[in-house]
Amino acid sequence: MSTPIEYLKRMSVIIVTGGSSGIGSALLQTIIKLVPNATICNLSRSKPGVFFDECGIHIPTDLSDSIALAAAAQQLQGIIDEAGPGELLLFNNSGFGDYGRFADLSAGKQLNMIDLNIKAIVDLTAQLLPQLLQRGGGVVNIASIAGFQPTPYLATYGATKAFVLNWTLALDEDLRGTKVRTLVVCPGPTRSNFFKSAGFETPPMRADGSGGLDMSSEAVAELTLSALAKGKPLLVTGWKNQCIAWFGSKFPIVAVTRIGGAILRKMRLEVHQGGSK
Ligand SMILES: NC(=O)c1ccc[n+]([C@@H]2O[C@H](COP(=O)([O-])OP(=O)(O)OC[C@H]3O[C@@H](n4cnc5c(N)ncnc54)[C@H](OP(=O)(O)O)[C@@H]3O)[C@@H](O)[C@H]2O)c1
Repeated sequence: MSTPIEYLKRMSVIIVTGGSSGIGSALLQTIIKLVPNATICNLSRSKPGVFFDECGIHIPTDLSDSIALAAAAQQLQGIIDEAGPGELLLFNNSGFGDYGRFADLSAGKQLNMIDLNIKAIVDLTAQLLPQLLQRGGGVVNIASIAGFQPTPYLATYGATKAFVLNWTLALDEDLRGTKVRTLVVCPGPTRSNFFKSAGFETPPMRADGSGGLDMSSEAVAELTLSALAKGKPLLVTGWKNQCIAWFGSKFPIVAVTRIGGAILRKMRLEVHQGGSK
């Protein structure tokens, strides 16, 4: 068991996907503060903020495109080969959701979500695995508390996160006996661009960030680094989210789906053409 700074100091290369906003940006900023000398790479379509200009390598990539992902992985392999001795740490964080009845949503967007939230994580991890195994290190995958139960109105999104949760826990066992560990992070509602890009008109959280279920991206980043340093395989952020995850995974799945549907229906907004409430 170590502190985040002790753990991160073992790394020679740290890779974050989706560092241009929200949780990924908070991860990058915290990591840069703790280990400014590490080689830190970001993969997303747009650049992280100015804080990254001097101290990180931005590789512009649409991770839902497997050809673009392969090119980025090749660039990363070169960076890792040239880096000094040390371990390798990969954060698969990029992802998005899409809110509404499945029939009202774009099928193309759902498939693109599967490409980003699932396929890109498996693909990038597989492409970097030889170097991970050789150097040792970690793979951190950002799932969600949505992964613990079916999520009506976010049906595809919740299912992608159930995949990430189960896949990462299984991968950790597969990697037992190697120098690579995994961590799956399940945040609950977190202040970021997520809700806007998922089609929520108003995020289901209080504007002043007080007292609700939600957390800041910075808090999620700090909890993630702390869990990583402690060698935990699973992090559900905060006790309220832990209660939701417990309820979602312990109660009969059909009942949980109905209750979840009723809650998510309340948040439903007229975001789709002709969509009825
Ligand atoms: N916010 C929440 O309440 C919450 C709760 C549980 C889990 N999560 C998960 O946390 C992760 C981070 O989300 P966030 O809350 O920080 O949302 P966010 O602020 O919307 O950030 C999403 C990140 O994903 C990147 N991304 C989106 N499409 C991409 C693509 N095609 N290729 C590469 N990168 C792409 C975005 O970068 P570009 O647009 O520049 O490409 C952005 O940096 C996601 O996996 C999300 O599902 C969020």
